[in-house]
This record gives sequence, structure tokens and C-alpha cells, in this order.
Amino acid sequence: MIKNATLRQLKVFETVARNLSFTRAAEELHTTQPTVSIQLKQLTDIVGQPLIEQIGKRIFLTEAGQELLKVSREIFDSLAHFEMRISDMKGVKAGRLNLSVITTAKYFVPRLLGLFCQRYPGIDVSLKVENRERMLQRMSENMDDLYVLGQPPEHMEVELQPFLENPMVVLAARNHPLAAERNIPPERLTEEPFLMREAGSGTRLATEKFFGERGLKIKVRMELGSNEAIKQAVAGGLGIAVLSAHTLALARNGDELVILDVAGFPIRRHWYLAYPREKQLSVVAATFLEFLHEESKLLSEKYFMGISGFPKQDEESPAEPGRDAG
Ligand code: PGA
Repeated sequence: MIKNATLRQLKVFETVARNLSFTRAAEELHTTQPTVSIQLKQLTDIVGQPLIEQIGKRIFLTEAGQELLKVSREIFDSLAHFEMRISDMKGVKAGRLNLSVITTAKYFVPRLLGLFCQRYPGIDVSLKVENRERMLQRMSENMDDLYVLGQPPEHMEVELQPFLENPMVVLAARNHPLAAERNIPPERLTEEPFLMREAGSGTRLATEKFFGERGLKIKVRMELGSNEAIKQAVAGGLGIAVLSAHTLALARNGDELVILDVAGFPIRRHWYLAYPREKQLSVVAATFLEFLHEESKLLSEKYFMGISGFPKQDEESPAEPGRDAG
């Protein structure tokens, strides 16, 4: 009977299942591999079904294992929520915030977290940075409290809060022939070689959508897996690229790049904070939502100041989800 399982056994199982490795699980739990094996064996006996399968050196979860993983996560989530509520009752916001953000959000989320952690020193934050596709996968597996992404997911029921503009601009090398032109028609860009993010990237999706909607086909010269690599390649004269204006915020190579004045740009998008609709938010996650809400106006002023060549943001309120360009 599963009622006889101990929390420790479930924790050991959850750690093995997450890492798909006994060694890593033992390390994470500060124990030995034989102890992990024994605990897992005891739990398997209680369940009466194998929980994992080992094929060669690789570990897989059985169907029973996957079900138990879901249950274990729910149990540990509930306990963490309980702990947070107790500290909340004591007047302290404490606990862990698990945040998963899309690659391009790494330009501003860490600084935001700095502010947040200063205000709430009892809150620990874990930040995962993934591209859009991998982040949606994490969301469907309910791995984190909150997610930051640039475009609402298509196949999931989520709560969405737009909190900051995410304009996308066309970047070129400073000495590019189009740098001095005004109001360049998008058709003109089809003659230029493009540098494109990897498949699964939200930036790429938004770029394809912009040109696709206008019946235009762009020439992709190279696919690169990061915004920074693209900026370097643009600065090196390999081609032009559409990227979020946030990627210019740190602007180490800012003076080597220019924003082209292309009709239809910047593509106006927003950053959204999202979580699955049926998810019960923890005290800490709700605190972060509130924090973002309060800070969002200040944020947009702060994060676009100093981006040279970027058109001034208007006072427009955030768009309705789904109305974005991307
Ligand atoms: P990406 O997404 O980092 O996966 O390209 C960014 C976005 O959707 O704006």
C-alpha cells in the first residue's frame, strides 16, 4: 500500500526520476548510491510494480513510474506551498520561486530578480533559461511556478500577464548600405542574407510570421543558436537579423550595430508571465506576480533607455494576449 511509503522514499524516487541517474540522485541527496538503490527497491515493493527500467546504462520510467512521479511532485509542491503559507502567516515571505524563462528574457530577468531578491531576502530563486520549445515542454510537465515568454502558447490553457514590451528590430552592421536609408520597404530585405535563430526559437517564429504574412521569402544564410552569436555575425558583416531590442541592452558591441528603419518595424510584442490555468500559485509566486505588476511601468522606461536608434516607446497599454505581431 502506497500509504506505507515514506516521504524520504518518494523524495529519492523523484530525484532519480528527474535526473534519470542513480549517481546524480545520490549526489543531489548527499547520500550514497547503494542507499538510493535500497530506498527505491523498498518503494518498488510497496507499489508492487517496477518504477524504472534499466536498459544498458540508461534509465527509463515505467508507466507506473511516470504516474508516481506526478503524484510525488504534487505532494512536494503541496508541502512547499504549506511551508510558504506558514511563513506568510508569520509575516515573512519565504520559500523558493522556480522560474523558467525564454532565452531572450535573460537580458532583463536576472536584473529584475536582483531587485526582487533585495526586497524579499527570504525568497530563493531558481532560474532556468530555455528556448521557446523547451520551455513549453517544461510548462506541460508542470516543472516550474512561473514562465516568461514572448508569445502565448498555442495548445495550452494558460493565465497570461503582459508586463513589458518586447519590440523586435532589424539589425545590420554599422557600415551596411541600408544603414542610412529611411522607411525601407520589407520587400527590399529579401535581397539581403539573414542570420536566423534555431528552430524552436520564439524570435525565429515571429520573424517568419512577419515575412510570411506579407508573402515574402527571406534568404537565410546561416542559422545560429544564440542572440549573442547572431549579433557578432551581424557586426562581422555576414548578414542582417531580426532580434528583440532587449538584446541590445547590454550593448557591448552596440556601436558596431545599427537598427534599420524598415516599414512595419519594430514588430510590437510583449513579454508575458504565464502559468497553467489550473495551477495553484504559491505565496512566493503570487508575490512575484504582484512585484512585476507594480514594477512594469518603471521597467519599460528603464530597459529601453540607452538603446541608441530605438524609437521612443509610446504610452500604449499592453496589448491583449493574441493580438501581438508574433
Ligand atoms: P526565443 O524567444 O528566445 O526562444 O527566441 C524569444 C521571444 O519569443 O521573443
